[in-house]
Amino acid sequence: MKTTEYRILGIESSCDETAAAVVSSGREILSSVIASQADLHAQFGGVYPEIASREHIKAVYATVDQALQQAHLELADLDAIAVTRGPGLAGSLVVGANMAKAIALGSGLPIIGVNHLEGHIYSAWLYASGNVPGPEPQFPLIALLVSGGHTELILMRDHLQYERLGSTVDDAAGESFDKVARLLGLGYPGGPSIQKAAQEGNPKAFHFPKAKLSEPYNFSFSGLKTAVLRTVEELKASGKALPVADLAASFQQAVVAVLYEKTIQAAEEFGARELIVAGGVSANKALRETFRSQVNYKVHIPHISLCTDNAAMIAAAGYQHFIRKQLDDLSFDVLPNWPLVATMEV
Ligand SMILES: Nc1ncnc2c1ncn2[C@@H]1O[C@H](COP(=O)(O)OP(=O)(O)OP(=O)(O)O)[C@@H](O)[C@H]1O
Ligand SMILES: [Mg+2]
Repeated sequence: MKTTEYRILGIESSCDETAAAVVSSGREILSSVIASQADLHAQFGGVYPEIASREHIKAVYATVDQALQQAHLELADLDAIAVTRGPGLAGSLVVGANMAKAIALGSGLPIIGVNHLEGHIYSAWLYASGNVPGPEPQFPLIALLVSGGHTELILMRDHLQYERLGSTVDDAAGESFDKVARLLGLGYPGGPSIQKAAQEGNPKAFHFPKAKLSEPYNFSFSGLKTAVLRTVEELKASGKALPVADLAASFQQAVVAVLYEKTIQAAEEFGARELIVAGGVSANKALRETFRSQVNYKVHIPHISLCTDNAAMIAAAGYQHFIRKQLDDLSFDVLPNWPLVATMEV
């Protein structure tokens, strides 16, 4: 029996990427367009909110138009619109939300406000049109969400059900890559530049201590950043050339190790069948290889192009709400601080 195919237009504008995509039945990417502002923000070493929202305004119409064109579809061929409602930069979120509302109003299509973090998790369900789909993630699963603003360990017993096992108590994993890259004199965004520098380095050259936390599934990365800073200062004071590649490799290794160990420990404790690793940091080669090298759990890691912000993941998460008739009306507001899980549940 063939199940009904639903086509959802996704719109994402929570940070510095204006993105639109059309996804069929929550999995098959018919189109995905991303207008990135990263080069514009690189001069500031981070995202400059006012510039971001202005750039979204300039890019959003053409991005949505391109996504429809690439999918060879018109609004009349769609079933719903999913848009990022939060978390993210208020001024940026508003641009995508207003675009989605305008289209919904004009076309009569239903609208769904999606949590950006839920989108990152659902990127694990996506595949490019024309490719053979991999197996869908099976529950119960542990999702490690590692992005620029978040580091969360989530237990999912079913679709759209999230129990937070732990999260970062200070910097997010991606943020720590960005900060350490800056102090090593590497470019923005820091994740890709640390990864590149680390390729030539020895991950055992420096031993950075692990944070000791009372909650087993929480993370802390600010101490690690400070340890790198101290080492850099000591090396500079002694007049030695900075072994940037070794420092990058050792830092990267320390982050990967803690993310991996806690995820596996959680999977064992909560009887997970599978793992999802998602969010911008899941693009990291060392992290991907480490998770793929274990044999006890099937691990779903999105294609590298889907790890950082995109709209296909918003459409994929939106689909899960759509088929459960969880729709919004046009009066919804953006939620810049919207958590995926409101309270600690486990
Ligand atoms: N190859 C990589 N290795 C490590 N980190 C990476 C890599 N590629 C990207 N990142 C990091 O991922 C982060 C961006 O991810 P993402 O786009 O998901 O974050 P965000 O949308 O800004 O934050 P959030 O999703 O928490 O709101 C940046 O911190 C970046 O340094
Ligand atoms: Mg993100």
